[in-house]
Amino acid sequence: MITKNKLALMLSLAISIFFIAPFTKVKAAESIKIGIMLPYSGAFADLGDSIEKGFMLYSKQKGNKFAGKNLEFVKLDDESSPPKAVENANKLVKGDKVDILLGSVHSGVAMGMAKVAMDNGVLLMVPNAGAAAITGSMCAKNIYRSSFTNWQAGYVVGDIVMKAGHKKVVTITWKYAAGDESVGGFKDSFIAKGGMIMKELSLPFPNVEFQALLTEIASIKPDAVYTFFSGAGAVEFVKDYMASGLNKTIPLYGSGFITEGVLEAQGADAEGLVTALYYGDGLNTPRDNEFRAAYKKAYNQDPDVFAVQGYDAAMMLDIGLTATKGDVKDMEGFSKALRQAPIPSPRGNFTLSASHNPIQDFYMRKVIKGKNQVTGIAVKALADPAVGCKMQ
Ligand code: BEZ
Repeated sequence: MITKNKLALMLSLAISIFFIAPFTKVKAAESIKIGIMLPYSGAFADLGDSIEKGFMLYSKQKGNKFAGKNLEFVKLDDESSPPKAVENANKLVKGDKVDILLGSVHSGVAMGMAKVAMDNGVLLMVPNAGAAAITGSMCAKNIYRSSFTNWQAGYVVGDIVMKAGHKKVVTITWKYAAGDESVGGFKDSFIAKGGMIMKELSLPFPNVEFQALLTEIASIKPDAVYTFFSGAGAVEFVKDYMASGLNKTIPLYGSGFITEGVLEAQGADAEGLVTALYYGDGLNTPRDNEFRAAYKKAYNQDPDVFAVQGYDAAMMLDIGLTATKGDVKDMEGFSKALRQAPIPSPRGNFTLSASHNPIQDFYMRKVIKGKNQVTGIAVKALADPAVGCKMQ
């Protein structure tokens, strides 16, 4: 039998469920929590810093709101450590309950993040790591990249080296996905044009003991060297290559990462190096000039490609989430919005492939007076082959 008191209690409970529960739900959905997993220490620390700066610049320009929802950030230093990647990403997804994962720089770390994103159906935006698998065999409705594949960044250089008249090349890189795939892309175009690879040299990431390998290059005597290193490794490699005197007879080429974000530290050693990438100094387009001025004003430094990738990662989230009215689970709507229109990046407009990787122009660049000066177009609208991706 229901007493008067019990009835009053039930009524007040029903009223609070009716009024408070929807209010709480609306409040919770007012913000979007982004878990930022980047290297804040180690060989790629500066790259992580640039990505975050670019991402925050765009977010601030949008009043820290996407689709009318406040952005909240949780940051984690991934130390460019693949063995810790799954645990770190799970900390963000299961512990901090983030709605979106952003990261990372190192291909091995980003592959761990992609696994966690797939297992939990969380939206992942990759602002650098070029591992083929992320937009290849692991491609998914909830996984996106604002940067490149390692294959793309290597492929464009093969033709440049061949056109410069070099037929026999030694490659040297770190032994992990980024190095292997960058060399793989280079070989695909270089060998197709009649080039020959004399030897593929490598050392474990993030080692910088290059002396024995440089001695080996000297004894092989190739026409040229192709390399992938980045961050602190790129500074050390260029310094050691020039100190060895090899550059006098064996010119050094690389994907743009060999001189990107590190020119100040490389100083005169980098002058004259020819590379290729989808960004560079002196593009001099209204879009890039506007971006560069805003970046300089915010951080008192010039942006590099990593800053652009961070900026574009935020822009892509904004475009996708605006289309889904902030619904972080509506991956159909998110994907449709991003695939529909060209993305107005400071690098130039790019489109997104069916596997969610940028289809973009690559520029030829030369280091002139401490800048990665754009000297022309290397390849227009280069798409990654997306091997293993079943999405259409
Ligand atoms: C990578 O691990 O995919 C990577 C790291 C630094 C620069 C470019 C690629």
